[in-house]
Amino acid sequence: MPDLQLQNILVKPGTKEILKLEQLTLMESQIYAIVGPSGSGKSTFLKVINLLMKPVQGKMNFFGQELSLPHLSGSGRLLVQREMAFVAQKPVMFQTTVFENVAMGLRYRGIDRLTIRKRVNEALEQVGLLGSAGQAAHTLSGGEAQRVALARALVLKPKLLLLDEPTSNLDPKNVSIFEQVTRNIHQTFQTTILIVTHHLHQARRLASHCLFIHEGKLVEMADTDSFFQTPKTEDLKAFLSGQMVY
Ligand SMILES: Nc1ncnc2c1ncn2[C@@H]1O[C@H](COP(=O)(O)OP(=O)(O)OP(=O)(O)O)[C@@H](O)[C@H]1O
Ligand SMILES: [Mg+2]
Repeated sequence: MPDLQLQNILVKPGTKEILKLEQLTLMESQIYAIVGPSGSGKSTFLKVINLLMKPVQGKMNFFGQELSLPHLSGSGRLLVQREMAFVAQKPVMFQTTVFENVAMGLRYRGIDRLTIRKRVNEALEQVGLLGSAGQAAHTLSGGEAQRVALARALVLKPKLLLLDEPTSNLDPKNVSIFEQVTRNIHQTFQTTILIVTHHLHQARRLASHCLFIHEGKLVEMADTDSFFQTPKTEDLKAFLSGQMVY
């Protein structure tokens, strides 16, 4: 089943076209890695999907819901955004406990206290931080903070989880823990996950499919084995062999 379809997307905040996509279908319960040189449009791609950036033209079908991206109302946008969660490179922790950091999104949605406690504890357990629930969030290590960010996303039970270079500030051990937690989330909830990464090994380890974005265009997309073993375009071959300067 397709989860998400994009059609005729053009993002042009000034005079420059920074993202142009003709057609793209993402299937449910898959992990997609997005790779490409710096400045190629990877974050823009996630922001368009998360409705944080408005294209000048384009349509998105989100779980059967057809959206004309340039013409979304504020309330329509919020409803769709609530079905997704976004984890960025550097998590921003609120100056309160780990528990409250994870609970915050649910409080905004008016969920009752008992349900909040249950869901927050479940999410913290999933990321291995149940024992740190009472700790001040700003005292966490970088790796722990990034896992709290993941729990904060998870607790909202998103249909789509968007990760923008979530491990680029972490050491190898924490990268490995974060990847394991991501895999567990995927197995437990079958959440569709999009992860932007600069680490090709990470794409290989985690993703079922990979997308190569270059100069604002989707140049190639394939299942992970084909993507790495039999790249079709010269651009992807150059990128994978490290010849593309960025
Ligand atoms: N709001 C904006 N206005 C103008 N240009 C923008 C805007 N947002 C992004 N860009 C430009 O669009 C291009 C793509 O940016 P984007 O952040 O998507 O790249 P990226 O692939 O995520 O790069 P990186 O790997 O360095 O994070 C860049 O040249 C950037 O300067
Ligand atoms: Mg980026």
